[in-house]
Amino acid sequence: MNIPIALNVNGKAVQASVDPRMLLVQLLREQLHLTGTHVGCDTAHCGACTVHLNGRAVKACSMLALQAQGGSVTTIEGLAGGGGKDGTDLHPMQTAFRECHGLQCGFCTPGMVMASVQLLKDNPNASEQQIREGLEGNICRCTGYHNIVRAIQSCQRAAATA
Ligand code: FES
Ligand code: FES
Repeated sequence: MNIPIALNVNGKAVQASVDPRMLLVQLLREQLHLTGTHVGCDTAHCGACTVHLNGRAVKACSMLALQAQGGSVTTIEGLAGGGGKDGTDLHPMQTAFRECHGLQCGFCTPGMVMASVQLLKDNPNASEQQIREGLEGNICRCTGYHNIVRAIQSCQRAAATA
């Protein structure tokens, strides 16, 4: 039996009818067609499904859609709108990933960006070591993480000079 759910996703009110066993990531991808949130493992290890729920990064494969009832979700699709200085509307973290080549295949990137935004929100002056530790819940199989760390540091510098 499906259960009605109401939440806010990327600034818009959303109503859906969900199976009680449906995961948040399934609601986002399969019902709301927000396919920027990826599924890499389904076991809470890779971080590809990271979104923000009520302002905190969560792995959308590790919680039920019903747990987001009444909440506010931001996915990678809703992160832009940062009024980037480069003439785009990208969030500064997205700009930094682009400029620092913080991605190759891009599969991990949405979750990596969402986790990185949370990381700097929690610790704007995070050291390289703290950045690397903060990304331990997000796996990238391509980059060796070096340019991802550089991107986050670039975002730190941009924020410091803003
Ligand atoms: Fe959620 Fe891997 S798909 S952590
Ligand atoms: Fe390919 Fe990270 S860029 S998995």
